[in-house]
Amino acid sequence: MSSHAEEPTRRDFLTIAGTAFAAVGGAMALWPFIAQMNPDASTQALASVEIDLTPVKAGQAITVMWRGKPVFIRNRTPEEIEKAAATPVGELPDPESDLQRVKKGRENWLVLVGICTHLGCIPKGQSLADMKGDYGGWFCPCHGSHYDLSGRIRKGPAPRNLEVPAYEFVEDTKIRIG
Ligand code: FES
Repeated sequence: MSSHAEEPTRRDFLTIAGTAFAAVGGAMALWPFIAQMNPDASTQALASVEIDLTPVKAGQAITVMWRGKPVFIRNRTPEEIEKAAATPVGELPDPESDLQRVKKGRENWLVLVGICTHLGCIPKGQSLADMKGDYGGWFCPCHGSHYDLSGRIRKGPAPRNLEVPAYEFVEDTKIRIG
């Protein structure tokens, strides 16, 4: 394989992690002042991160840390969205439509807490070279849970879909989680 093939994998991880870290760093600098004024506000500041999604191209995924948990952000391709949306909800162990798990008009962005709902492992599927399971999303090798392109459990012991954290778009390609 040429070095070109490896490039997207590496890029997936570093750019956004840097941005998220900077945002949290800024919040921490405010800590002593806010803590004196209002403990709730200080907790809130630390509890959210802003992520610039501009570098994440279609088909790529990145992982950011939020409240000590990995959050998977995937920029889904039109084919992936179509596949996720076409899945009959009645066939799902934890029935949720794809639209219930994304923001309307921005269906390409899938944001998930990257923790298996079985016993808490971190599923594979973020890197291009990772196993993605039978449904093209994520695969938890601990006990074999397969998640689909919407992060929904499809096969294996996990009881629930991967959690979608509270988040919002603050700009066209920027989200705030928490
Ligand atoms: S922790 Fe993921 S399958 Fe058991």
